[in-house]
Amino acid sequence: MYTLPILALAAALPTALSQSSNSETILGVYMFHRHGDRTAKITAPANLTDLGYRQVYDSGSYYRSRYIDSGADFRISGINPDAVLQSQLQVSSPIDDVLQNSATGFLQALYPPVGSELDAEELRNGSTVTAPMQGYQLIPIGVAESGTGSEDSTWLQGTSDCAKAEVSSNEYFVSDEYRRLYDSTRDFYRNLLPVISGMFSEDDATFENAYEIWDYINVATIHNNTIPSASLLTDRTLFQLRTLADAQQFALAYNASTPIRAVTGMTLAAQITQFLNDSLSTAGSFSGQRLGIQFGAYATFASFFGLAQLPEVNEDFTGVTDYASSMVFEMFTNASKTDYSPEDVFVRFLYHNGTASESDPPTEYPLFGTGENALAWNDFMENMNAFSLGDTGAWCTACGNSTGECAAYVNDNNDDGSSAGSALSSEESTGCSNGVSPAVNGVIGAMVTLAVVLGLEALVLVVFGLRVVSKKRLAQGAGRVVGGGEEMKG
Ligand SMILES: *[C@@H]1O[C@H](CO)[C@@H](O)[C@H](O)[C@H]1NC(C)=O
Ligand SMILES: *[C@@H]1O[C@H](CO)[C@@H](O)[C@H](O)[C@H]1NC(C)=O
Ligand SMILES: *[C@@H]1O[C@H](CO)[C@@H](O)[C@H](O)[C@H]1NC(C)=O
Ligand SMILES: *[C@@H]1O[C@H](CO)[C@@H](O)[C@H](O)[C@H]1NC(C)=O
Ligand SMILES: *[C@@H]1O[C@H](CO)[C@@H](O)[C@H](O)[C@H]1NC(C)=O
Ligand SMILES: *[C@@H]1O[C@H](CO)[C@@H](O)[C@H](O)[C@H]1NC(C)=O
Ligand SMILES: *[C@@H]1O[C@H](CO)[C@@H](O)[C@H](O)[C@H]1NC(C)=O
Ligand SMILES: *[C@@H]1O[C@H](CO)[C@@H](O)[C@H](O)[C@H]1NC(C)=O
Repeated sequence: MYTLPILALAAALPTALSQSSNSETILGVYMFHRHGDRTAKITAPANLTDLGYRQVYDSGSYYRSRYIDSGADFRISGINPDAVLQSQLQVSSPIDDVLQNSATGFLQALYPPVGSELDAEELRNGSTVTAPMQGYQLIPIGVAESGTGSEDSTWLQGTSDCAKAEVSSNEYFVSDEYRRLYDSTRDFYRNLLPVISGMFSEDDATFENAYEIWDYINVATIHNNTIPSASLLTDRTLFQLRTLADAQQFALAYNASTPIRAVTGMTLAAQITQFLNDSLSTAGSFSGQRLGIQFGAYATFASFFGLAQLPEVNEDFTGVTDYASSMVFEMFTNASKTDYSPEDVFVRFLYHNGTASESDPPTEYPLFGTGENALAWNDFMENMNAFSLGDTGAWCTACGNSTGECAAYVNDNNDDGSSAGSALSSEESTGCSNGVSPAVNGVIGAMVTLAVVLGLEALVLVVFGLRVVSKKRLAQGAGRVVGGGEEMKG
C-alpha cells in the first residue's frame, strides 16, 4: 500500500533533475575518490571496515545513477549501462589494501551483477554458463604509481617518492608556525593521555602526532564502546583535535612558496588531463574511454585543492577530506553530441565531502580562482598544465631525483652542460631553489632517507646520542624529522 506513492516519487525525481542538463552531453569524467571508513593508522595494518565498505558501495551506487544507468541524470555519452565494457573504464589505486578494497566495493555498485539473462554464455557443446554470483562483473584495478601503502603510513609524503617534496614537507617541522602550535598545544595533548595512553606515550602526545592522535580518537568515537576517560572527549576537544590535524596535514600537503610539496596533486593533474584528452579524441568511438576512477589518500586531495586555489573559494578545503569523499571532472559539450569542436567543450569540477548520494550530491566549485564553474576546455588544460607533472623526465627534474629510473634524466637537470656527465646527488642538484641552503637541504634530505630505514628515534639516538624510546615508536618509523627537528635547533 505504501509502495505506490514512493514509486511514483522515485519515477518523477530523475525527470525533474535531468531537465537542466538536457542540452548537455557528457563526453568523459575523471574521478578521484577517498577510501571508506577504516581502522586507525596507528594500529597498522589498517583495514576497511564494514561501515567503510558500505560508504564506498553507496558512493558507487550514486555515481552509477549519475553517469551510467540508462536513466542517469548526467549519463556519459555512449557508456555501457549494464554490462561493463572494460575499454570504457579505467580504474586505478596504489598498492594498498584499504584503497584497493575500497575501489572494489565502489565498482560492485557502479556495475552491479547483471543477472543470468544478460550474462549467459553458450558453449560449443550447447550448454549454457553464467558467471558466479548472479553475473558478478570483474573489473581490473590498475596500479597508481605513487601512494603505495599510504593507509599504513602515517607519513604520507614518504609515499610520494619525490625527494624535493619530502624535503619541502620536512621544512614545515622546523618552521615557526609548527613550533608555535607545538608549544601552545603541549598541555592540550598531554591532558588527553588518559584516552590515548594505550597507544601514545607522554612524549608522543604532542602536535607532532596531531593527525595520528586525531585519527586514533576519531576511529574510536565511531567504533569503540569502551573508550577510557571518554568524558574528556567533549565536542570542543574533538573539534580542536580535528582542526589541529587539518592545519598540520594541509601545511604538509601544500605550500604556495614551495609548490613541489604538492607533488601528488601535480601528478594527479597530469593523469586527469591525459585521461580527458584521450576521452575527447576517442569520444566518437564505441569502445573509447569514458570514465576514469582513481582511489587515493586525503593528502592528494589537499595538494590538488591547494594547487587549484580552492581554499580561496571556501576555507573548508584546507580541512582533511572525510572518508569516501570524491572529486570529479566532468567534460561536456552543449553543442550537438556528434558535431562539436574543442571550442564547444567545457570542464566543470565537483566535490563532495564524504559519501555522495541523491539527497546530498556533489557541489560545483570554480577552479584556479576563475570564479567560473564551467571552464572552456583550452582554459582548463592551460591551467592544469601550469602545474601538472606528466612524464618521468619532468617528474625527476622537479623532484631532484637522480637515481633509479631517474638516472637517465640527470643530464637534463644541468642546462649549462658544464657538469654533464657528473651525476650530482639529489641533495646537491636541488640546490638553492627552495630557499634553504644546500647544506641544510643535504642534512634534512639525508635524515629523511635514513629515518625511513631506521625509524626516527633510532636516528636521533645515533646522531645526537639521546634517550632510548619505546619499541612501538620505533616500529612506526614515520620517516620525518619532527621531534628530531626540535632537537636539531635546541
Ligand atoms: C587488519 O587485518 C589484519 C589481517 O588481515 C590483522 O592482522 C590486523 O590486526 C587488522 N587490523 C586491525 C586494526 O584490526
Ligand atoms: C560442455 O562443456 C563444459 C566445459 O567443457 C563442461 O563443463 C560441460 O559438462 C559440457 N556439457 C555437456 C553436456 O557435455
Ligand atoms: C627519489 O628520492 C627519494 C629520496 O632520496 C627516494 O626515497 C625515492 O625512492 C626516489 N624515488 C625514485 C622514484 O627514484
Ligand atoms: C578501545 O577499546 C579497548 C577495549 O575496550 C580499549 O582497551 C582501548 O583503549 C580503546 N581505544 C580507545 C582509543 O579508546
Ligand atoms: C609556507 O612555508 C614557509 C616556509 O616554510 C612558511 O614560512 C609559510 O608560513 C608557509 N605558508 C603557509 C601558507 O603555510
Ligand atoms: C591530447 O591529444 C592529442 C591527440 O588527440 C595529442 O596530440 C596531444 O598531445 C594531447 N595533449 C595532452 C596534453 O595530452
Ligand atoms: C570536510 O568535512 C570536515 C568535517 O567533517 C571538515 O573539517 C573539512 O574541512 C571538510 N573538507 C572540505 C574540503 O570541505
Ligand atoms: C550549457 O547549457 C545549459 C542549459 O542550457 C546552460 O545552463 C549552461 O550554462 C551551458 N553551459 C555552457 C558552458 O555553455
